[in-house]
Amino acid sequence: MPELNPTQNPVHMRHGSNIGQPLTRRDGILKVKGQAEYAADHHPKGMLFAVIANASIARGRVTSLDIAAAKAHPGVIDVMTSSHKPKLAIDPDIKTNPFVFRMEVLQSDEIRYAGQSIAVVIAETLEAATEGAALLSPRYAALPARVGLDAGESFEPPVVGVGNPTAHVHGDVEAGLAAAAKTVEAVYETPPQYHNAMEPHAVVASWDGDRLSIDTPSQAMVMARARVAELFGIPAENIQIRSPFLGGGFGSKGFLTGPQILGVMAARLVGKPVKLVLRREQMYGPVGHRAPTRQRLRMGVDGDGRLVAIDHHARTVSSSYDDFYEPAAGASHTLYASRAIRTTHDAVRVDTGTPLFMRAPGEATGSIALESMIDEMAFACGIDPLDFRLQNYAEVEPITGKPFSSKALRECYAQGAARFGWDKRRLAPRTMRDESGLLVGWGMGTATFPALMFMAEARAAIRRDGSGVMEIGAHDMGQGAWTALAQIAADGLGLDLDKVEFRSGTSDLPDGGIAGGSAHTATAGNAIHNAGAAVIAKLADLATKDERSPLFGAGNTGVVARDGRLHRRDDESRSESYADILTRAGLAEIDARATGAADPAAQAEYAMHAHGAVFAEVKVDPDLGQVRVTRMVGAFAAGRIINPRMVQSQLYGGMIWGLSFALHEEAITDRRSGRIMNANLAEYHIPVNADVPALDVLTVDEHDPHVNALGIKGVGEIGITGSAGAVANAVWHATGVRVRRFPIRIDELLT
Ligand code: MOS
Repeated sequence: MPELNPTQNPVHMRHGSNIGQPLTRRDGILKVKGQAEYAADHHPKGMLFAVIANASIARGRVTSLDIAAAKAHPGVIDVMTSSHKPKLAIDPDIKTNPFVFRMEVLQSDEIRYAGQSIAVVIAETLEAATEGAALLSPRYAALPARVGLDAGESFEPPVVGVGNPTAHVHGDVEAGLAAAAKTVEAVYETPPQYHNAMEPHAVVASWDGDRLSIDTPSQAMVMARARVAELFGIPAENIQIRSPFLGGGFGSKGFLTGPQILGVMAARLVGKPVKLVLRREQMYGPVGHRAPTRQRLRMGVDGDGRLVAIDHHARTVSSSYDDFYEPAAGASHTLYASRAIRTTHDAVRVDTGTPLFMRAPGEATGSIALESMIDEMAFACGIDPLDFRLQNYAEVEPITGKPFSSKALRECYAQGAARFGWDKRRLAPRTMRDESGLLVGWGMGTATFPALMFMAEARAAIRRDGSGVMEIGAHDMGQGAWTALAQIAADGLGLDLDKVEFRSGTSDLPDGGIAGGSAHTATAGNAIHNAGAAVIAKLADLATKDERSPLFGAGNTGVVARDGRLHRRDDESRSESYADILTRAGLAEIDARATGAADPAAQAEYAMHAHGAVFAEVKVDPDLGQVRVTRMVGAFAAGRIINPRMVQSQLYGGMIWGLSFALHEEAITDRRSGRIMNANLAEYHIPVNADVPALDVLTVDEHDPHVNALGIKGVGEIGITGSAGAVANAVWHATGVRVRRFPIRIDELLT
């Protein structure tokens, strides 16, 4: 991999305070120059190209493929099908742990959804493989496609999200609603959405006997390696996965998908390195998506406008053959105090690729419904939406009664509202216009996301020349892990950033855990911090026990590491350099490993969440219904901020996705064929620059002594929550029309 430039920064580092600096991306120049290596940039010698042929029906069976025609095409080497393929060591439909999702790797001729892989053509060129795939002319025995939220019998799933209970009941919701001074009820619908990372799923696989080398984008390399090992029946140590950079993941690269395994199988079949890259439309099926939801919310308030009951039911869909259930109703667990809260889910099975985690899974879908309903209730009570939220502020986590480890949401409301100018808002809708006559609407939403921790390990070393090394198989999805984690490494080692070699992005390094659940910086960061502390402790031991050291007798806790030296705490003028300590000890290097993980005791005691408040302004053409978001302000509290520039960028991205959720994104499925009709970035609408206004992101100071040693909560997903509702509420405030089916469309605003 090309060298990262550690010093490419306008901000001069203060020694020992890398954390908190708004450094630019250390990989920025590489990316701008096109030198950052993504999976599909690899071209091992002798490499062939593989292209997947996809099913055009949503349910049934393949009855024939014209393999002879494909093979006759010049350059085509082989066609992999369900009857001609390398044998796998286990059935890919066996779920060996809860984090295994079923995949389609030509295990049979059965078709489970439109777009499923039905054959793989391997050729000398991409063009030949593409043409070969087109020549297969599949025939099918088709069954009717099951599409949409009413496609079949509904059932209560065993769990939602990652093992969360399907139903939560706190207090008596029905009694609360019956006794309420005022109730509101509404049904909201959210569409299927697709991750659409800029970088498609891609794999370059090379076998050397029973050793396997894979370049592929992954949010969890060690988990991916274990899956490859079990599928191919080879030891994990024989497999190296390289994934230094991802062009976005958003959850779709958390688990290896069928196409990635097909690339590895194709390489096995032909005995040569193979590259397989999905085309954009091939990403609408086998790599996950956000499931559609229909959410019914009921709320009751007492005579003072205090919530007495929240009832949130979410219906979702899953595939016909696997279980992932969007935990949409869970959004109601944390935000608003209410004597009674009930959240429930049901689901129907449809002919789709299995839905999966997608940026803020559950919170994003649930938040737009909950925040809309809160807005509806505030208006029903004649109360300003911010005042309504403040008078229903949750001082403890409503569903559990646990105290929050920290919660600076009040400050988010105050700072966001002040920046936005919220106090000038008129209560009634359709009462504000700009000078050109456009309707102006102001809306807000509360943002929330849990502060999670998984498990990661890091190895730290200090070398005799006084430089440091930090190794961790972490993942940079574009969020800035190469930068933020290196900053933590530098502080952990007591060194300037340019004295630290930060190694990351491959599976042979210590397990960096999962880049998901907004938990990567917290988890990998704490592993790095702990590994740094462990190696410094060893170094301190060497010095403080040696009579020749000026630190002799200070004790491990009597020294601090800073600027490549250990200093006595009680007399900072007495210090010794790392280089001198190691040289005297005759050591070339000293190293230590450590982990980062959640503290179960703290988790049992506290509810841990990041929070925020988002304010949006829209302008709507009263004649045409055209909506423009003209301003957004987001104020977020997410514990310690490692790199304010990267964090701002993450929050911008989340807020833009929220805008997109409210106004743009929707995958449309043809009810007859079960095919997605807009499987491309022209017709699957996402905001472009012209749709995105000036965004203002504020981060609110928040010190959290409980979440983890560094006090990090994570910012990857929270930005989308709150934002989608804020835009939807602003559209209502501008127009007086409450649209409850997302995305909001022009035709629904013409009154
Ligand atoms: Mo995320 S949906 O945890 O990548």
